[in-house]
Amino acid sequence: MSTRRPVTTSIMKKMKKDGNPITMITAYDYPSAQLAEEAGVDAILVGDSLGNVVLGYEATLPVTLDDMIYHTRAVTRAVSVPFVVTDMPFMTYHGSVDETLKNVARLMREGRCKAVKMEGGAEIAPAVRACVQAGVPVMGHVGLTPQSIYQIGGYKVQGKTSEQAKKLLEDVKALEEAGAFAVVLELVTDELAAHISEQLTIPTIGIGAGAGCDGQVLVFHDLLQYGSSIRPKKFVKAYANVGEVIRQGIADYVRDVKERKFPDDEHAFKGESEVASYLYGGK
Ligand code: KIV
Repeated sequence: MSTRRPVTTSIMKKMKKDGNPITMITAYDYPSAQLAEEAGVDAILVGDSLGNVVLGYEATLPVTLDDMIYHTRAVTRAVSVPFVVTDMPFMTYHGSVDETLKNVARLMREGRCKAVKMEGGAEIAPAVRACVQAGVPVMGHVGLTPQSIYQIGGYKVQGKTSEQAKKLLEDVKALEEAGAFAVVLELVTDELAAHISEQLTIPTIGIGAGAGCDGQVLVFHDLLQYGSSIRPKKFVKAYANVGEVIRQGIADYVRDVKERKFPDDEHAFKGESEVASYLYGGK
């Protein structure tokens, strides 16, 4: 059991003020969340990126509210210190306020996360405000928003033109004004992300948005190269090659079974000596 204090939204706000970077990683199940906590992360995102890295979809759009609840429940069972945020999946916060609140309530009640994340700018400010007024901490997400990937037309860096930069600034201001406690900046040019971070009182969490953000988030499977076909990405630093360790471990197991080297005596059970003589003594 950790002796660290559970991280809260006000602790993260203070971390921004103190210039203490916030560390966040995605996790989707019990063992990875436990390891993330043991490694000392401040926050865990149960991202709908699970659609890509766990469920094998091409995009995040097919991920359902039930998928998010199922994975969030596994993560929240595992941790007590990191602040757990869960993604609201595609189209679960674009209907009426009542519908949005019902979906948020399910995620929090059944998944037991402490906050939700929503993609979008000024256009989702009313949904953010309604959740905040209902007592739910909301994290915003602007820049490259994967739920709009078919509209954006690919994983493109955002904020390169002054028109885009102006729109992004308006969007983050609208989210802050609606009561969001933090905002993810994904694939945003580093000078714009640094400027946004200076302009806001709430923390910015960057992914592919440079060092000027108040914190960083990476996808678990990217950071650890966990999978057989993880695409290299410019903004990801691979800190381990877990996929290779797993592949080699399974290959060693297959070889040992084929060569009858496993199980050996060390991994098998013996009965009392009379049993052996009963079995093999020809009686
Ligand atoms: O779903 C996710 O993992 C995310 C991160 C990329 C921020 O939204």
